Amino acid sequence: MNVLRFSDLVAQGRVRGQRVFIRADLNVPQDDAGHITEDTRIRASVPCIRMALDAGAAVMVTSHLGRPTEGEFKPEDSLAPVAARLAELLGRPVPLKANWVDGVAVQPGEVVLLENCRLNKGEKKNNEELARKMAALTDIFVHDAFGTAHRAEASTYGIAQFAKVACAGPLLAAEIDAITKALAHPKRPLVAIVAGSKVSTKLTILQSLAAKVDGLVVGGGIANTFLLAQGLPIGKSLAEPDLVNEAKAVIAAMKARGAAVPIPVDVVCAKAFKADAVATVKAVADVAPDDLILDIGPKTAALLADQLEAAGTIVWNGPVGVFEFDAFANGTETIARAIADSDAFSIAGGGDTLAAIAKYGIEKDVGYISTGGGAFLEVLEGKTLPAFEILARRSQG
Ligand code: 3PG
Repeated sequence: MNVLRFSDLVAQGRVRGQRVFIRADLNVPQDDAGHITEDTRIRASVPCIRMALDAGAAVMVTSHLGRPTEGEFKPEDSLAPVAARLAELLGRPVPLKANWVDGVAVQPGEVVLLENCRLNKGEKKNNEELARKMAALTDIFVHDAFGTAHRAEASTYGIAQFAKVACAGPLLAAEIDAITKALAHPKRPLVAIVAGSKVSTKLTILQSLAAKVDGLVVGGGIANTFLLAQGLPIGKSLAEPDLVNEAKAVIAAMKARGAAVPIPVDVVCAKAFKADAVATVKAVADVAPDDLILDIGPKTAALLADQLEAAGTIVWNGPVGVFEFDAFANGTETIARAIADSDAFSIAGGGDTLAAIAKYGIEKDVGYISTGGGAFLEVLEGKTLPAFEILARRSQG
């Protein structure tokens, strides 16, 4: 995708002394006491901030945190814990500025964090007046918030329309590059793993990928609906029988292209959804009326691992079993390790997928791990995200 890149502006010496406004995604989980429990997004935002500081810019950074009510400040919505973590990571003070829309004092070589941008009235609805005020704060707007690339809000979209210069930060650029490599120009075979509890939440992804991929591996509750579509028994397993026709259509679309949705040959069943439930491996046709399918079986996992081994590109979204319970984790672990061992370029995203990657310690062996949740899913749906659309438009002058 053709967008202006911040790294190019830096290389061209166009950033020194400029006011740079970075929209990052610092929306990280916190516990009840306000401690950050997972800081990947903050760490992922550091290279852009450093790049701007090293280039001699006056740097403003903002992000949303959660979904606060606009115009109503509550302490739990504050970016204060994020400012503290950012200061640790950057090794320098990061003052937090409230009420910043009408003006921000910041000098070249300094960085300030602008309080939760979703506290500003008009942010969510991309209010033009608000967006113009934000744009007036800066010489260069840098969109580095892939996690919000599917949102058209004042600090993500409107500001990009009205700022003198609008470009992609290194994190957004890396996401664009990885997505393009995986989905627009993939080395084949391209295998996608789409798992999760419900077909309904991922139906558009399945339909979109069915037109692109060579193998579409379904897992979790989604797989159960596909088993039903094949006329197989699933006992009491989670499924959506009213979406069987949609599952059949996905299978047919894949078949018409000479591609396949591999159906498990064996599964791991339990009589209850519990960590200590007895796990029984069964041939897929032998699932009993009181069984719950909680994982793919070892034969299926081995077959899928072979397929992943031979893939040119792998897209992974969703664990294939209840990997939080050790007795039902083998399928997800086998797939994770096969992705790690494969020479294929792999891209993974989504909260549960990231948790599985962390559990099996394969972070370094995955080609690219996306920081996007909803944004990553919308990319898989084949949508052009607003961030990419506006930055591409602005790059044309
Ligand atoms: C996310 O957590 O996926 C992003 O930060 C976007 O958050 P939102 O869904 O509240 O826009």
